[in-house]
Amino acid sequence: MLIAPSILTANFGDLKNEIKSIETADYIHLDIMDGNFVPNLSFGPHITKCISKLTNIPFDTHLMVLDPLKWIDKFAIGNTKYITVHYESNNYLEAINEIKKKGIKAGLSIKPKTSVSQIKHLLKDLDLILVMSVEPGFGGQSFMPNSIDKIKELNQIRTDLELDFIIEVDGGINLETGKLVKDAGVDMVVAGSHIFNQEDRKLAIKNLKNV
Ligand code: DX5
Ligand code: ZN
Repeated sequence: MLIAPSILTANFGDLKNEIKSIETADYIHLDIMDGNFVPNLSFGPHITKCISKLTNIPFDTHLMVLDPLKWIDKFAIGNTKYITVHYESNNYLEAINEIKKKGIKAGLSIKPKTSVSQIKHLLKDLDLILVMSVEPGFGGQSFMPNSIDKIKELNQIRTDLELDFIIEVDGGINLETGKLVKDAGVDMVVAGSHIFNQEDRKLAIKNLKNV
């Protein structure tokens, strides 16, 4: 299982050391919020670029913005491997095309109230599906168990249709919920507060990988 720490709950006053503390991670998950799609603001392309100079860990960028299309160019930075946009946003189809044009892998995310059947027709064109297991906007919320059925459903569709997108889950992941989603067939987990609230982040990453 791949581990993508979300730096949303990191200490932004000490980013250099915070990034260093998670250097064993598979990806860095970047939560971009515009105050419209979600009721919160986080950070933008400038800080993302600064972080890219601190590390070679690939980026997994999660755009929680209303108009993802206008941001793709700005987030197509250095080590960005995935950019994920929301099914509930405007122009997500155009954004997905733009992501691919940049040679970056394209992800689509669904909020807790969106079903897998709503995006089934899109799966063949995607590299990653991000199942939100909390309402997007804030770190530190509790895991919503209905995401487990969505992961299982995506896994089944992937097998049945012989597709190769990866399944990621985001929100409320700890050792207990990490085990549940792993058993359901998830490939990559995002964990923010669970990792950054621990002193030894490398141990936290290792333990989560081994659930
Ligand atoms: C929520 C973000 C998540 C969040 C995860 O809107 O997309 O990535 O930071 O944080 P935890 O792991 O604390 O739920
Ligand atoms: Zn996220």
